Amino acid sequence: MSEATASPIVVEASSDSIPASEAAVYAQDLSKVYKDFWGRDKVRALDGLNLTIRRGEVFGLLGPNGSGKSTTIKLLLGLIFPTGGRAQIMGQACGSTEVNKRIGFLPEESYLYRFLNGEETLYFYGRLFKIPHRDLKKRVPLLLDTVGLDEKARKRKLREYSKGMARRIGLAQALINDPDLVLLDEPTTGLDPIGTREMKDLIISLKNQGKTVILCSHLLADVQDVCERVTILFRGRQQDLSGQGNRQYVGNIRDILQVRDVTQVEAQGLSPQQVQELREFIKRYGAGAAMTHPTTTLEDLFIKIVRDQSGGGTYTSSDA
Ligand SMILES: Nc1ncnc2c1ncn2[C@@H]1O[C@H](COP(=O)(O)OP(=O)(O)O)[C@@H](O)[C@H]1O
Ligand SMILES: [Mg+2]
Repeated sequence: MSEATASPIVVEASSDSIPASEAAVYAQDLSKVYKDFWGRDKVRALDGLNLTIRRGEVFGLLGPNGSGKSTTIKLLLGLIFPTGGRAQIMGQACGSTEVNKRIGFLPEESYLYRFLNGEETLYFYGRLFKIPHRDLKKRVPLLLDTVGLDEKARKRKLREYSKGMARRIGLAQALINDPDLVLLDEPTTGLDPIGTREMKDLIISLKNQGKTVILCSHLLADVQDVCERVTILFRGRQQDLSGQGNRQYVGNIRDILQVRDVTQVEAQGLSPQQVQELREFIKRYGAGAAMTHPTTTLEDLFIKIVRDQSGGGTYTSSDA
């Protein structure tokens, strides 16, 4: 039995705290120091990570390159061992075969066999997970559809795949065992804006299927759209998100992005007269009141332009 079942540890003093045994991922003071050849301390890659990730949430692990994101993932998978603290997945110690069977992992670089085609790759990994052939015959085409690899793409050898296609087959491979927890290490790196949008939609569809997703990324805009809560790592340490010394190391994305003392007014189809009235109304209530036209993101605009150019909604980055 795990320690957590014997004595539940409750972290995060907020009202929505949950016991470690019920969390999808739980880390307490998790630390990793890489040693050099002679066993001397070399790099403090992760320094006291505290996390409780609920089942079914999309959680963002953010930070610039070298901040300890991949190290965290490797610790959760049991590929490396902590030098301090501990971590659990679904109430059990990391690294056990039992736990890893329920995890899907998309590494930063997918090490897939270049001489297999997309379909063969999924059969290969399916057999590693001992999934019966009759199940694979159903699941493989479904997964290839899900990640958007068409008939032609699935028969091509992986060495001919573009970066975007390689990311897609990597994700399909990570999902072959129908995992409860999906670890995605920099899933959008190297993808063009359409590939990125599609990857984000896939992540949202994983959430809708009830899976827990951990998304590691240094691309903040990508995380903003899909994650509910985030933590930011820098040089192995979690950063205070409150900006006021409140020691808030995990934050709800909406809360941390909200500019609290600014109200934005949005309305469609107002006449110039009505706009003027509204302006005067706001002016009465505060100095510095201003109304702006809502903006779209550059990404939205880019995608719209390309989609319009290619004559409707059928263009995907794998066509490029
Ligand atoms: N096997 C290793 N041996 C020594 N140092 C390492 C090893 N792996 C990663 N590091 C170092 O640990 C730090 C964190 O790395 P990593 O977790 O890969 O960061 P991220 O994924 O956020 O880019 C970096 O300074 C990196 O150079
Ligand atoms: Mg990394």
